[in-house]
Amino acid sequence: MSSTAGQIIKCRAAVSWEAGKPLVIEEVEVAPPKAMEVRLKILYTSLCHTDVYFWEAKGQTPMFPRIFGHEAGGIVESVGEGVTDLAPGDHVLPIFTGECRECAHCKSEDSNMCDLLRINTDRGVMISDGQSRFSINGKPIYHFLGTSTFSEYTVLHVGCVAKINPAAPLDKVCVVSCGISTGYGATVNVARPPKGSTVAVFGLGAVGLAAAEGARASGASRIIGVDLNPKRFEEAKKFGVTEFVNPADHKKPVQEVLVEMTNGGVDRSVECTGNINAMISAFECVHDGWGVAVLVGVPHKDAEFKTHPVNFLNERTLKGTFFGNYKPRTDIPGVVEKYMNKELELEKFITHSVPFSEINKAFDLMLKGESLRCIIRMDG
Ligand SMILES: NC(=O)c1ccc[n+]([C@@H]2O[C@H](COP(=O)([O-])OP(=O)(O)OC[C@H]3O[C@@H](n4cnc5c(N)ncnc54)[C@H](O)[C@@H]3O)[C@@H](O)[C@H]2O)c1
Ligand SMILES: [Zn+2]
Ligand SMILES: [Zn+2]
Repeated sequence: MSSTAGQIIKCRAAVSWEAGKPLVIEEVEVAPPKAMEVRLKILYTSLCHTDVYFWEAKGQTPMFPRIFGHEAGGIVESVGEGVTDLAPGDHVLPIFTGECRECAHCKSEDSNMCDLLRINTDRGVMISDGQSRFSINGKPIYHFLGTSTFSEYTVLHVGCVAKINPAAPLDKVCVVSCGISTGYGATVNVARPPKGSTVAVFGLGAVGLAAAEGARASGASRIIGVDLNPKRFEEAKKFGVTEFVNPADHKKPVQEVLVEMTNGGVDRSVECTGNINAMISAFECVHDGWGVAVLVGVPHKDAEFKTHPVNFLNERTLKGTFFGNYKPRTDIPGVVEKYMNKELELEKFITHSVPFSEINKAFDLMLKGESLRCIIRMDG
C-alpha cells in the first residue's frame, strides 16, 4: 500500500473553467477511489480532437468547470474495495469507454458497447455515486469521459483501465489509449478491407493516419487520403497513403471525384473528421454491390446524416465504431504488444511534446492543424 492510499491527494490539474478559454493549472483535491474504482498517477497524456470539441463546446453540451483528457498512460496509485485485478504500481492506460465483463455486450464477440461503461460524453461524475472525485476548496469539478487525464492524479472505474506490459514506454504507448487504437481498429476490425483493395481515409489526423496504417497492414493496394489541410499530405506518405484528394481543389462533390478515380467507387472508406458532410461523402464514395463505409469522427450534437435510400438498396453498407471496436481491458494489452514487437510504429504519430505547464500549446497546435499528437509531460 502506498502512503497516500485512502487519503485525499492534493495535486496539479489543468482545469477548464469556461468554454474555449485557456486551461488553468490549479491545485485540486482528488478523493480516494471508492468500490470498484482505482486512482492513477498520470505520467503522460496527449490531446485528441474529442477533448477540443467539448472544450470549445460549440457543437457539444457545455459542462464546466471540467478536467478534460482521455488519451494517457500512468501507474496505479491505489485501488478501492473489490478491485482484484489491478494493484498499486501496475502500468495502465485509461480508456474512455469501459468493459464490465458481465453485460451482454461484454460477453458478445462483436460489441464493445458495454452497458455500464460505454462512452458517455455528458456525464461529469462517477457512476457509483453520481459524485465527482475532484474539488477545489470544496467545490466539485466535473470529470470528462470517466478519465480526466489532465490531472496528476485521477479516479476511474476499474473497467476503464487497461493493464499493460510494464516494459512499454508510457510516453509512446499513451497514444494507444485513444487515437491510434480507434483508427487502426476501425480499419482492421470493422472495415476489414480485403487484400488488394482500395481504401479511402477522410481526415488525416492521428486517427485517420492510424486508419491508413490499418489499411496498409491489411494489404490494401491503394490508400486515398482526403483532407482539407494540404500540410497533411506529405506527412501521410509515411503512413502508407498513396494518393491525395483535397475537396477544396474540386468543383464537384468529393465523392464524385473518388468514384471517377476508382472506376465506380472505393472498396472501403473510413471517416475520421467529425464533419457531417465528410461522413456523407465517405458513404457515397464506396462501390455499389460491396462497399463498406465506417464512421469514426464525433459529430456535432445536432448533425443529421442525409443520403438517398437507393444508396443502400444498391448494396452499400454504412457502419460506425467507437474505439475501433476494441474491448479496452481484453484487447488493448495486445495492441501495446504490437508496438513492442515493432508491428505498429507509434513514434511517427508523436509530432510534439510540451510540459504540463504549457498544455494550452497542445490545443493551439491541434487547432492550427500542425500536430498529430502532442505529448503532455505531467512532470513538467
Ligand atoms: N469514434 C471514436 O472512438 C473516436 C475516438 C477518437 C477520436 N474520434 C474523432 O475522430 C476525429 C479525428 O480525430 P483526430 O484527433 O485525428 O483529429 P485531427 O484534428 O487531428 O484530424 C482531423 C482531420 O480531419 C480534417 N478534416 C476536417 N474536416 C474535413 C472535411 N470536411 N473533409 C476532409 N478532411 C477534413 C482536418 O483537416 C484534420 O486533418 C475527431 O472527430 C475525433 O473526435 C473518434
Ligand atoms: Zn480520443
Ligand atoms: Zn459490460
